[in-house]
Amino acid sequence: MTLPRYPDLPTLESDRLLLRKMSLEDAPDLFEYASDSQVAQYTTWTPHQSLEDSQIFLNSILEKYQTHESGDWGIIHKGDCKLIGTCGFVNWVQSHHHAEIGYALSRAYWGQGYMPESVKALVAFAFQETNLNRIEARCKLPNRSSARVMEKVGMKYEGILRQQMFIKGSFHDMKLYAILREDWENLSK
Ligand SMILES: CC(C)(COP(=O)(O)OP(=O)(O)OC[C@H]1O[C@@H](n2cnc3c(N)ncnc32)[C@H](O)[C@@H]1OP(=O)(O)O)[C@@H](O)C(=O)NCCC(=O)NCCS
Repeated sequence: MTLPRYPDLPTLESDRLLLRKMSLEDAPDLFEYASDSQVAQYTTWTPHQSLEDSQIFLNSILEKYQTHESGDWGIIHKGDCKLIGTCGFVNWVQSHHHAEIGYALSRAYWGQGYMPESVKALVAFAFQETNLNRIEARCKLPNRSSARVMEKVGMKYEGILRQQMFIKGSFHDMKLYAILREDWENLSK
């Protein structure tokens, strides 16, 4: 992956959330939701079986921080002082100024607008602080909750990528959404 145009992952803040770099101390909070099979139902990863799985995942993220690759932010619930999910850029292609966003949230916090709030902060950061021009997100067809997140942040539905991903042993059609810099600028007018 090409290196993104920011040297370090900054802490971002929204009304109810802090998005910050993760550390190994986040392993218990991460394991609490990443071991939930309902959270992992539509993700590319399988549920974590042990705290060690969460530590391995966190170590891979820490490595990305070190090499300035685009790593995930931890989503911290300010009221509960707890890591409740992750979000971040994947597939950052510097030459074409586009990237993709991925995310997951603890089931206890679903349905309260936390992920739209996180993704809005990420999109604002990207268009204000980097030279990205297009941000994409994909989800499996039955994952309506994820599609709603994309709609709520102002992404536009662009169609279905047929059998685009091979996940957990089978091919999956993916819905593609994206927001352009000009779409985002128009949102705030
Ligand atoms: C997809 C996900 C991030 C949505 O985050 P969220 O903060 O709950 O998003 P919202 O609060 O805006 O809710 C989005 C939709 O989820 C649905 N929803 C609401 N409460 C729900 C609940 N308790 N359980 C399941 N779905 C619910 C609703 O359809 C809602 O849309 P609406 O506001 O139009 O009614 C979250 O469900 C999640 O982490 N899922 C598992 C991981 C995943 O699928 N990641 C994305 C892979 S592409």
